[in-house]
Amino acid sequence: MEAKKISHDIYMNKALSLASRGLRRTSPNPMVGCVIVKDGKIIGEGWHHECGYPHAEIEALNDAKAHNHDVRGSTVYVTLEPCSHYGKTPPCANRLVEEGVSEVVVAMRDPNPKVNSKGINILRDAGIKLTELEGEINARAKWLNRGFVFVHKYHRPFITLKAAMSLDGKMCLDNGSSKWLTGIEARTKAHELRASNDALLVGVGTILSDDPELTVRHVAGINPLRVVLDRQHRTPKNAKVRNDDNYVILDCDIKSALEELVKRGVLTLMVEGGPEVLSTFLREGFADYVNLFYAPKILGEGKGFNLGMGFDSVSEAFGVNYVKFTQLGQDILVEGRLTCSPDL
Ligand SMILES: NC(=O)c1ccc[n+]([C@@H]2O[C@H](COP(=O)([O-])OP(=O)(O)OC[C@H]3O[C@@H](n4cnc5c(N)ncnc54)[C@H](OP(=O)(O)O)[C@@H]3O)[C@@H](O)[C@H]2O)c1
Ligand SMILES: [Zn+2]
Repeated sequence: MEAKKISHDIYMNKALSLASRGLRRTSPNPMVGCVIVKDGKIIGEGWHHECGYPHAEIEALNDAKAHNHDVRGSTVYVTLEPCSHYGKTPPCANRLVEEGVSEVVVAMRDPNPKVNSKGINILRDAGIKLTELEGEINARAKWLNRGFVFVHKYHRPFITLKAAMSLDGKMCLDNGSSKWLTGIEARTKAHELRASNDALLVGVGTILSDDPELTVRHVAGINPLRVVLDRQHRTPKNAKVRNDDNYVILDCDIKSALEELVKRGVLTLMVEGGPEVLSTFLREGFADYVNLFYAPKILGEGKGFNLGMGFDSVSEAFGVNYVKFTQLGQDILVEGRLTCSPDL
């Protein structure tokens, strides 16, 4: 029994690492990986490459067949419950039944109500042995697809707040000056974070004072959608954020802005500033994760991302779980999951 669990974990880890190759390419679909095992050997591997392309299970079945393997009687490891609905492709659950596989192991159920449990039921009804993994591997599968889970469960993207600040928590001086607070290592890391989100958001205050490009430059990666919250249409015509068509300027409240982003297929959003917008996201609880860069400087008077916030006791304050610290040159990145964020 224990040996079986270990092999489940090994194959599912492999499937999860295949799934992660789809990062930023599959949205609004989830990242999914699949490994097909027969007689103790992997005979097929696949992942969902891009929205509109075949699902991971189909890729893995095709891979097995391309190498002349017979998939009948095999065990299929798939990171997400196989789909049961006719979308851009026919349902994978039905296809697995037709192919005559014996067992399907899944790391998590599909949070999409169109699928949830239906894929699993199709497989069970057809007499296929179904194993759902729990614990750490289930948590990792959900974490990989946190944006997809949030959009289906909470109808909003998974939101990361990112800020660079001094040791005394100031993102800029009172006169608006903030360039360059952190060093090149921290800024490179910030570009890596950009590349892993579907959209980046700032307020018009940041556009007016910094005119940021909001693109991925220090590392290789796909540019996210650029989003500006600007209720009085103050974004200049020649602002760098308008350099190509991959941007949207919204003049609504945060809730409607998030709904609009979901409509545009955004699963993960990073809010990059400035202090007013970050504070509003945090105060209203639209905040799931923080990436806080601290530079070894003391700015004195200035703005942080906690404007208008106050608690009567420390026990009421927002907390951060799963905290991680990384030194980047002279700066420190503190990151973790905000306690105000709902469960995955
Ligand atoms: N260190 C860092 O990480 C960092 C990052 C970014 C910016 N900054 C600095 O921050 C300063 C700009 O600060 P800021 O607070 O003015 O920038 P901001 O938060 O980017 O922009 C604030 C503006 O956004 C608009 N807005 C639209 N919807 C909003 C909402 N729901 N909640 C709050 N604001 C909303 C408001 O203008 P309307 O009412 O007209 O819409 C508001 O004046 C600059 O000095 C910049 O250099 C620092
Ligand atoms: Zn499918």
